Amino acid sequence: MSTALITGCDYGIGFEFARQYAADGWKVHAVCLDEASREKLSALSNDVHFHHVDVSDPAAVSALAERLRGEAVDLLINNAATFAPDGPGTLMLPDMDEFTRVMRVNAVAPIYVADAFETHVAASDRKLMVFIGTRSGSIGDNGSGGHYAYRCSKAALNMAVKSLSCDFAAQGVITAVLHPGSVATETRKGGQIPVDESVTGMRGIIEGLTKEQSGSFRRYDGGTIEW
Ligand SMILES: NC(=O)c1ccc[n+]([C@@H]2O[C@H](COP(=O)([O-])OP(=O)(O)OC[C@H]3O[C@@H](n4cnc5c(N)ncnc54)[C@H](OP(=O)(O)O)[C@@H]3O)[C@@H](O)[C@H]2O)c1
Repeated sequence: MSTALITGCDYGIGFEFARQYAADGWKVHAVCLDEASREKLSALSNDVHFHHVDVSDPAAVSALAERLRGEAVDLLINNAATFAPDGPGTLMLPDMDEFTRVMRVNAVAPIYVADAFETHVAASDRKLMVFIGTRSGSIGDNGSGGHYAYRCSKAALNMAVKSLSCDFAAQGVITAVLHPGSVATETRKGGQIPVDESVTGMRGIIEGLTKEQSGSFRRYDGGTIEW
């Protein structure tokens, strides 16, 4: 049985990843921010294990890694992320604490999660670490500005994933950033792509990832994106 550990499973893309992998017979460790999500995750299958962990809390992440010590994780999906509402002024900046919170959850936490679970992933058959990024984090694709906190956090995540592909190469761990498309979720009602379609597409990309593609930035429907 293959095992996935997925962060940010309360709803949206993370929940759908958990649902689809569980339906395909995977064991899933579902990391959620809200204790209230336990019931719906646990109801997916007996092989879905709920973990109430804030990914931006290093002690909680280390404790989870310790609890799962000795268990191989074929696929780590760093999906959890947050957003800051626009503030006033031309740049519509949120206050600096909010900006920093977004950086911490979206860019810094995934690096620490990757570090905490390196041995679990390296001990598995598939050795995959995937990070859900966004086209909004692409410098080459940025023609409209705005959303400083979210864009900067996801651009920083891109850099981290590229570096992880270098630093984990000797362990055979493959890393990639995936853009899910503009997905209709509970928090993003204006998205165009149904969440099951996006996740099915990303699972196809994940399934085909090779060592040569480690450290790449890819779309849910195939193809790469400019960094
Ligand atoms: N939807 C899109 O169109 C789109 C486009 C491009 C990229 N993405 C990326 O895709 C991923 C999933 O997006 P989504 O639309 O499914 O968003 P979402 O519905 O807001 O889901 C994000 C999940 O992460 C959880 N989370 C937030 N902070 C966390 C923390 N500190 N620790 C643990 N979990 C935490 C959230 O829990 P709470 O809700 O309880 O805070 C939620 O379950 C994100 O990385 C996002 O940036 C989405």
